[in-house]
Formats: sequence, structure tokens, C-alpha cells
Amino acid sequence: MSACERDTPPAHIAGPLLRWFDDHGRHDLPWQHPRSAYRVWVAEIMLQQTQVVTVVDYFNAFMTRFPDIQTLAAADNDAVMAHWAGLGYYARARNLHAAAKRVVAEHGGRFPTSVEQLMRLPGIGRSTAGAIVAQAFGIWAPILDGNAKRVIARLAAVTETPGTAAFEKPLWRLAERYTPNRRITDYTQAIMDLGATVCTRARPQCTRCPLHKDCLAARYDLQPRIPAPRKRKARPQREVTVIVASDDQGRILLEKRPPSGIWGGLWSLPEQEADLSIVAFCRHRLGIEIEPGARLSPIAHAFTHFELLIHPQKVQVIGSARIMDSSLQWYARDRLPGLPAPMARVLDTHQHAFAL
Ligand code: ADE
Repeated sequence: MSACERDTPPAHIAGPLLRWFDDHGRHDLPWQHPRSAYRVWVAEIMLQQTQVVTVVDYFNAFMTRFPDIQTLAAADNDAVMAHWAGLGYYARARNLHAAAKRVVAEHGGRFPTSVEQLMRLPGIGRSTAGAIVAQAFGIWAPILDGNAKRVIARLAAVTETPGTAAFEKPLWRLAERYTPNRRITDYTQAIMDLGATVCTRARPQCTRCPLHKDCLAARYDLQPRIPAPRKRKARPQREVTVIVASDDQGRILLEKRPPSGIWGGLWSLPEQEADLSIVAFCRHRLGIEIEPGARLSPIAHAFTHFELLIHPQKVQVIGSARIMDSSLQWYARDRLPGLPAPMARVLDTHQHAFAL
């Protein structure tokens, strides 16, 4: 048994953590003012895998367009996806929309107030459900998002690999033990804020940490090893060619992606099917006669489970274009709908190549 395994992690953390939060925590996040179940829920879904700085503008725009759950439930899926464009992980937006419809249909538009009921809605796991009930209703519930996980794993020197039962089970037990009965809303924000701003993955600022003297990782210099890196399988690579067709007015041809799969429901550059030549693909699938132009330098984008290398292929449209169906549309360059971030990057990076 190593020295740190003989030590015990602190029994309580709420006191010093809340005192730290009062001076150094985040009190001006848009979903805190006003705080409603709907706003907290949308924010927590956006904050899955995404940092606060990225989320704030998306959140504000989303609230302007979909101010309440009824508006969101009644909205066209296109409009919801367009407001998510650029945030990534689009299953979140599809689940959010589906959950809004269910809350309206099954709960009369009122959010369930228990973790168990919330977890039956699409896109809501135990930690997100806990964060919603704690912040929206002031109800006791532990959370264990990435930030809280790092803080607690270091406090207790849990060196197992995240995602394994040997890591997750003791962490949930500790999360329950540390969650106080008072100031639950502030405590929930406080532990996330400490993880995001002080107990960071790289170069944690332990001298500023209110829990420093009781932290086992700090005592034994284990911070760089906790949380242990997940054993990653090599990510497979996929390559696609996307067609950048511009017409005589400089408009760009976009295709609406099928509802499921990556970027489901978003407008994007048409993706060439591998078994057709560019000319045949453009003729039969896009309804345009073209002259192939330059193949431009590729753009790489990492997804959780694979890497995508996007090869943009410029084409010159000959004659007028017949638009074949409603999933294809010409868009002026200054009126593009929300595009997946890597597609926006293709157009940005190669702007000069597409200029008229
Ligand atoms: N990550 C998930 N939820 C968060 C929140 N409410 N504040 C900061 N980071 C978060």
C-alpha cells in the first residue's frame, strides 16, 4: 500500500469551497440571471464537452430565438440545428429538441424535478440531471461533470482510469459525501468553477486552491497523473471530398444533410459519393454540369471516434443549374446558414479561391 492510500481524503469540502466561490466563482453567467429550469437545462446541454467562453454567445442567441420550452418544442428542427451550428456534437441539439417536445407533451411544459425523471429524457445523464435540479430547483443532488471529477479525483488521489468502474464508483460516492445540504445551487457552480479555473488539467494553481491543505494529490505531487489519461484507441481516419460549386452570381451550393449521422440536419457543402466521378456526381446528384477546378488543400477535423480529412474540390458550373430537390440550395456568400465549423473553415481558408 502506498503512502497516499493510507491517507484519507477530506470529510467535507463545502465550507472552504463556498467561501472561495463567494470571492472567485462565476456569478454573472447568463443562465444564472434569470435562473429557470429551461435556461439551466439548455446551458447544461451546451456545456457538455464545451467551455463557458464558447457557450455564452450561443446561449444568448438561442434564448432570443427560443425564449421558452413551448417555443422550442414547436420550432422547426432546421431552426434548432441552425442555432447549434458551430457548437459541434449535434446529437445534443437533436436530443434537446426531442426532450422539449416530450416535456411539453408529457409534463404540460413543466420540467420534472427529480434526477430519475430527468434522466429519462434524451441527452440527460446523471450529472446533467443533478446540475439541473441543484441549480434550477435548489434540490440536493451530486454532480460529476469533467471539472468536478478532476477536483474530487485529486482530493482523494484516485489514480484509476476514468470511465472504469474502479474510478466512477468511488467518485460518485465521494461526490455524494461532499454535496452539502445548504447552498446547493452555489456549491454546484463552485465545484465546476474550481475545476475550470484553479484545478485545471495542466498546471493547476494549487497555491490558490481553498482545498489545498487536504488534497492528497497535492500532498504527494500526483496532480499531473490524475485523472489518468484514458487509453485511447488510435482514431480511424476518414477522408471525404466536398464540392464547392459557385454559380455566376458567386453563390455557393449547399446540401442539407440527412437527419441522423454527423452534422445531421445541417446545411453543408455537398459530400461526393466515393463511387461516382466528380462530373457524374454533380450531374446526377446535384443537377449541375461542371468543369472540375482545383483540388484545394485539405482541412482536418477530429471527432471523438474518428478523424475526418476534408478535401475541398472546386468546380465551375456550366450553364444554368437545375435545383433537383429541396435538400439543395444556392446561398449567397453573405447569407450562408449556420454551417458545421469545419465547413465554415473550408470556405474561410479558401476564400481567395472562390472569389469571382
Ligand atoms: N460545465 C458544465 N456546467 C457548467 C456550469 N454551469 N458552469 C461552468 N461550467 C460548466
